[in-house]
Amino acid sequence: MNYTHNDVVELYDKYVAHTYGRFALTAVSGSGVKCTDNDGKEYIDFTSGIGVNALGFCDEKWSEAVAEQSKKLNHTSNLYYTLPGGLLAKELCERSGMSCVFFGNSGAEANEGAIKAARAYSFKKYGEGRNKIISLVNSFHGRTVTTLAATGQDHFHQIFFPFTEGFEYATANDIDSVKALVDDSTCAVMMEMVQGEGGVIALDKDFVQAVRALCDEKDLILIVDEVQTGIGRTGKLFAYQNYDILPDVVSSAKGLGGGLPIGAVLMSEKTKDSLASGEHGSTFGANPICCAGGLAVLERLTDEFLAEVAAKGEYFRKKLLAMPKVISVSGLGMMIGIQLEGAAAKAVVAKCLEKGLMVLTAKDKVRLLPPLVIDYEDIDAGLEILENVLKECE
Ligand SMILES: Cc1ncc(COP(=O)(O)O)c(C=O)c1O
Repeated sequence: MNYTHNDVVELYDKYVAHTYGRFALTAVSGSGVKCTDNDGKEYIDFTSGIGVNALGFCDEKWSEAVAEQSKKLNHTSNLYYTLPGGLLAKELCERSGMSCVFFGNSGAEANEGAIKAARAYSFKKYGEGRNKIISLVNSFHGRTVTTLAATGQDHFHQIFFPFTEGFEYATANDIDSVKALVDDSTCAVMMEMVQGEGGVIALDKDFVQAVRALCDEKDLILIVDEVQTGIGRTGKLFAYQNYDILPDVVSSAKGLGGGLPIGAVLMSEKTKDSLASGEHGSTFGANPICCAGGLAVLERLTDEFLAEVAAKGEYFRKKLLAMPKVISVSGLGMMIGIQLEGAAAKAVVAKCLEKGLMVLTAKDKVRLLPPLVIDYEDIDAGLEILENVLKECE
């Protein structure tokens, strides 16, 4: 049977939980930066599946690596060793300055692991009662009960009581507000280098470095949430590499698998033994197919490639700033927030889709997370659609 878009919508309406507002697009295939819907209409993708498809849709080498691994060994559990997990962990450590990796399956799960690692470090060194984690107002760290608690937005602290205790929220780029929350019960500070869901807001370098110094002084664990910013998105493999600091724990997911579900907690020399045998785990963690996908992604993200991501980010910014109704452009690399005047972000997203361009929102901004492999021709084609939509908007 051939399913129409309406058939698929009916299936979702009836059988899929209604936790998302979806656009009227049933995606059936993709190649590079182009996605094709059920009716054969093609879209330029400036979303990467919310920062996941770092190499675009179905990159040939990535697909081959994943297909090959899926024919060789699909899963074993963590009771045994497999090569892709070991190789991916090595690659991540060597390129991040971290010392070991715990593999999970998503961003929220990576942050759960990061929080556990920080609390375990403190508990084992200082005993009970030192477990408070300071995160930032306007942050986003995930949808589990604990990562919602870590998220510094009241809007997410409704309905699901009781939330995990031990989180307080400081103001981004205000080191005094972080210091004011530090007391004997504090064990960690957690932050995104660029607040993604919060509106694509990059932290100041001075602030990040001051937080690092404060963490050193008080033996607090600095957790950097790289779920959205990591894997090349900002022009470095990890965004903290733009800030000349080394975190104690890093969470990664989204782009890491190039489209397959994988998350990772990267731990430094200081925190690498925080989680001992039996204290953390995941059935699917280090799944060899997902790790093979991850290796294919990292292989592509050479220094030269990353420099090109930064250059393309600048190109986007320059062109966007010259467009009507654009009052500012925020973010880093190809993590781009567009503040508009005289046009609502949501309406712009819907109109762009009608004209064949997929874009996102973040708060009241239009957000772009293009596949890192996008070329200048496709950037221009997508931006032309966006500019026309902005011109048409009342
Ligand atoms: C910074 C950040 N952390 C965590 C998450 C949660 O990731 P996931 O949806 O894979 O659980 C997200 C998702 O948008 C994110 O942007």
